Amino acid sequence: MKPSILAACILPALLASCRTTPTNSVEDQAFSQVRIVLETNCVHCHGDNRLSSMPPINDTHALSKLIGKHWIVPGKPEMSRFFQVITFPDTIPGAMPPTGHAISKKDVDTLRTWIKAGAKVPQQNIKFTPRGEMPRSI
Ligand code: HEC
Repeated sequence: MKPSILAACILPALLASCRTTPTNSVEDQAFSQVRIVLETNCVHCHGDNRLSSMPPINDTHALSKLIGKHWIVPGKPEMSRFFQVITFPDTIPGAMPPTGHAISKKDVDTLRTWIKAGAKVPQQNIKFTPRGEMPRSI
């Protein structure tokens, strides 16, 4: 390889990668809260082992594909299917998670605030990993 190629391509790339912050540190505080809510309540069923009715949400890039469609309407939580299903009472079929347990009001508020503020996700792809037990009804 010619040294000029090294200088022109590889060195800048290396330098850039040194400057790039490691995964997750690019997340702002608000998004990391959102990720925790999704990883705790949704990703078990809508992540890698996804269900057919909604595109998967197994990382931030996948989540981005839902934004701007009816799933997540930036600025309008009440118009977002993603949000509607978590505010349905448990008695309505389609309430999420479908386990007889609504998610906490605090978690609902976290998602509402995030969508209201434009549903921003970090550009860097961040993998979503299910947290804790899959939500189940007792
Ligand atoms: C225990 C598994 C499970 C969990 C946890 C879960 N879902 Fe679902 N979700 C389902 C099932 C089952 C369906 C319907 C699947 C089908 O018909 O293919 C569904 C469908 C959906 C749909 C599309 C249905 C519609 O009415 O538009 C959305 C949106 C959705 N879920 C959002 C969520 C969100 C947000 C969370 C987290 C708060 C969540 N789900 C957690 C199992 C789950």
